[in-house]
Amino acid sequence: MHLRVFESEQDAAVACAARVREAVTSHPSLVLGLPTGRTPLNVYRELVALHERKAVDWSRARTFNLDELLGVSAEDGGSFRAYMDRHFFRKVNLSEERIHFLDGAVPDAETECARYEAELAAEGGLGLVLLGIGANGHLAFNEPAEQLQARCHRTRLSRETREANAMLFGDDPSRVPLEALTLGMGALIQSRRAMLLAFGEGKAEAVKAMVEGPVTPRCPASFLQLHRDVEVWLDRASASALSARTQ
Ligand code: GLP
Repeated sequence: MHLRVFESEQDAAVACAARVREAVTSHPSLVLGLPTGRTPLNVYRELVALHERKAVDWSRARTFNLDELLGVSAEDGGSFRAYMDRHFFRKVNLSEERIHFLDGAVPDAETECARYEAELAAEGGLGLVLLGIGANGHLAFNEPAEQLQARCHRTRLSRETREANAMLFGDDPSRVPLEALTLGMGALIQSRRAMLLAFGEGKAEAVKAMVEGPVTPRCPASFLQLHRDVEVWLDRASASALSARTQ
């Protein structure tokens, strides 16, 4: 794991966006895996700013979002799809047919997961995936458990994950769906390159477990220790629990 520790979240976001720009410029049809949550907001803002300065062209890129809440349609303001439209998709020149998303409103979740998995395989898997990390160590919606799943699946959200996503539902955790659809660990670990972002003190213990702990389903992000090319982008606060040796 290559650690990159920045003075501030904003410094990290600027550098991270520059790295994504380089990747898309050198490989215009790159398949990107994209997260939602608070963490990537500044990165999306920087990417939009780069696009406005004509410093990056998204016309051939392809995107797959990591997850979606179950029972929520794309048109619902609380959906991850709506978040992506607001913060990124509507602000850059990505065409609709190149945007791939799990549909949280389907009647049959299993069929939807199989469709998404097949679609990702047909595009050759993730070239570059941006990731956040849950305070409990989750990746996408692969929650800590006794066993993890490799493939796209339906999953139950933990109480703390629903609390962390309450911002999309008027800060009311009880309105956050109980379940979600998510890419599995396989798609994330098999990505050609991964960039994990974590900011703030609230992520410090999860970052420590991910980087220094054992590889365990109790901390899904720890499986990134097995990834061939992963960079961990931190600010001082999220790096604060790491031992001096790691830093
Ligand atoms: C969410 C998402 C993850 C995200 C994580 C952290 O529930 N499913 O993909 O990385 O939790 O969220 P935040 O960035 O808001 O802390």
